[in-house]
Amino acid sequence: MNSITQLFGIQYPIIQGGMIWNSGYKLASAVSNAGGLGLIGAGSMYPEVLREHIQKCQKATDKPFGVNVPMLYPNIEEIIQIIIEEGVKVVFTSAGNPKTWTAHLKAQGITVVHVVSSSKFALKAQEAGVDAVVAEGFEAGGHNGREETTTLTLIPMVRRNISIPLIAAGGIATGKGMLAAMILGADGVQMGSRFAASEESSSHADFKKTIIEVQEGDTQLTLKELAPVRLIKNKFYNDLQDLYSKCPTPEELKALLGRARAKRGMFEGDLIEGELEIGQIAGLIDEIQPVARIIKEVITEYNQAKVAVAQFNF
Ligand SMILES: Cc1cc2nc3c(=O)[nH]c(=O)nc-3n(C[C@H](O)[C@H](O)[C@H](O)COP(=O)(O)O)c2cc1C
Repeated sequence: MNSITQLFGIQYPIIQGGMIWNSGYKLASAVSNAGGLGLIGAGSMYPEVLREHIQKCQKATDKPFGVNVPMLYPNIEEIIQIIIEEGVKVVFTSAGNPKTWTAHLKAQGITVVHVVSSSKFALKAQEAGVDAVVAEGFEAGGHNGREETTTLTLIPMVRRNISIPLIAAGGIATGKGMLAAMILGADGVQMGSRFAASEESSSHADFKKTIIEVQEGDTQLTLKELAPVRLIKNKFYNDLQDLYSKCPTPEELKALLGRARAKRGMFEGDLIEGELEIGQIAGLIDEIQPVARIIKEVITEYNQAKVAVAQFNF
């Protein structure tokens, strides 16, 4: 038991990060059933779709699960209302100010965690009254901080600055990665990319196949002028680079991005024109596996690595 397993009432301090177009109720419930904490990704769901996923998740697991709410998307008031109405016990907020919803959610008895990419924002989240913080490094898939602070640097710095439980994210996909993050001061880990490549992820089969083909250096953080996001370097990414060479205005970048690029890429499987979000660690992921096997592998490797490190046996 540690502060994270206790906070959520789970077996292992492994959180499945909320991921647009990837983390519906099937992924979230599979992670929770395997002893971690599954999160439904509300960012790609209309409010009523989210309600359906919450209800299906409640039927698919009797273990704790939560909802991830990225605050940069529309309909947030409605989303929060549905979360409360449906009796969700855990909410992870991201991409916004933790002061906006924390007190309201906590007044309903909900455990609140906020995702940050710097010590400064970790401290702000703690001051806003959250129960724990996810500190996400530059390696991570999806939206990210502008400052490019890596997980290896971020975790010990955040640890020094806050006293509440700390979850590390970004570049963690194995038991050894998990152990490294815990040694640096994390109480638990949040993994995204590895679960995006799971059988239960709701993303398109062709996107999952692409994740396991990704090699070191195949992703890049871009669109810093809008909302920084790490993407696989496909044609859409190259079109963005061409536009960058002409010193575009944010409006021109917005026009190229258009609407629904992420859905097109990850959910509909358009590997050419779509937005394909994944972390650097995808270079290490080479198999699409069921969630239960992923969690078992991570925990087994974590325990073996712990013994090996203690004995200087590597
Ligand atoms: C495809 C994809 C979509 C993501 N969408 C979200 C999201 O909707 N909300 C959020 O807070 N984080 C999102 N993330 C970040 C993850 O929750 C997680 O923190 C991150 O993936 C951890 O880094 P890793 O990819 O190296 O494991 C996304 C990540 C990926 C790969």
